[in-house]
Amino acid sequence: MNYIGMEYFEQLLKKESLFKDESKLDINYIPDKLPHRDKELSLLSQLFLGLITNPNSISRKILITGKTGIGKTVTIKLFGKILENVSRQRDINIKYAHINCRKERTSYKVLISLVQLLDNQFPKRGYSSQDLLDFLTEFLHRYNIHILLVLDELSYLINKHEDLIYSLTRINDDNLKGDQRLSIIGIVRDLSCLNNLDNSTMSTLQRNILEFKKYSESQTFNILKYRANDSLKKNVLSDKMIEMISEITSNSGDIRHGLNIIWRSCKIAESKNLKYINAECVRLGNQNLLPYSTLDVLEYMNSQKLSFLLAIIKTLNNCEKIKISFNEALKRYYMICENIGTKPRSNSQLWNYLQEFKRENLLNTKIISENIKGRQALIEIPDLNLPNFERNIIKILSSKGFKI
Ligand SMILES: Nc1ncnc2c1ncn2[C@@H]1O[C@H](COP(=O)(O)OP(=O)(O)O)[C@@H](O)[C@H]1O
Ligand SMILES: [Mg+2]
Repeated sequence: MNYIGMEYFEQLLKKESLFKDESKLDINYIPDKLPHRDKELSLLSQLFLGLITNPNSISRKILITGKTGIGKTVTIKLFGKILENVSRQRDINIKYAHINCRKERTSYKVLISLVQLLDNQFPKRGYSSQDLLDFLTEFLHRYNIHILLVLDELSYLINKHEDLIYSLTRINDDNLKGDQRLSIIGIVRDLSCLNNLDNSTMSTLQRNILEFKKYSESQTFNILKYRANDSLKKNVLSDKMIEMISEITSNSGDIRHGLNIIWRSCKIAESKNLKYINAECVRLGNQNLLPYSTLDVLEYMNSQKLSFLLAIIKTLNNCEKIKISFNEALKRYYMICENIGTKPRSNSQLWNYLQEFKRENLLNTKIISENIKGRQALIEIPDLNLPNFERNIIKILSSKGFKI
């Protein structure tokens, strides 16, 4: 590094940051408090109180539902922390296990993660699901443990027609002379995915449903203010700016969107050598910003599915209509496949993709006919900035080696 380079670096080091603690805006950070989720937290406490008062004699199974970004995951994680702490103080062995089924997409993967959480030496391969269940049963009994298993984004598992929950609950009933070793919290966006579940599993889960409601704009304001207070220095973000961000966030209701704008607009203010975030920083921070959940979904998507989504977006971008048909999207998809040199997927596979996009909240569809000869649907994408959506998909595809 030459002299000027070093000096510049020194200057940067000397510059005071506007952040107090940037990591507190991370997606996975669990704040100490959750404004406007008191009701949910107290309900959870009441439901699971029995695990503390009568250890290993009851098992709870509940289902949490609600839209994306409204604090389902973080509330359950905070509750898990509280429950573990309370039980530790009383020498009761409760273990909290949070598994995201979008990441661990098969029953086997869920089981392995669970087993490895208990025993991090456990090998990844070489066991059948039944072996793993046997190991779990034996382990929980030997060390006198009750597990609170959270299956987050459970719909990704349910769609595989596997009945993990049923197998897991058998840990309780048969093998352990009445001992109850496992409670389950499932988290889903909506209840429609439950139709694929086994009847008895479904009726067990449906008995206790806790629905999380979307935050109002003023609740969003309070939450963002609390999070800004935690992560930014004093007076960096004024109430007026928080109001502006809350208004943008209220559209999708996804708090992650708001947190992301706070982080980005603060970075922008820093780069402009400002002492606080102004309206322009917020506007710039909101530009090119897909709601976070959408980016999340895209990152895990395979390239064929991404190409089909890209085809839909390109078709929407290039026409004057707000809705396009499945067939129009197909035409564009074949062109894209030819361009990047991949073999197109079958129409019925693409039809399935379309249903998945809908479940993942990426678009809306209206099915007009669904007989084998002619499947017809109208496709529309609400609220999102399409060119930006397109750019992000192209970026992800090219990171996987496909040039569009
Ligand atoms: N009441 C709240 N107080 C503080 N932060 C919150 C609150 N609700 C949600 N968040 C934050 O918003 C983001 C999205 O919440 P998350 O629990 O991931 O949503 P969901 O699981 O419902 O999609 C997380 O970063 C979370 O910390
Ligand atoms: Mg979540």
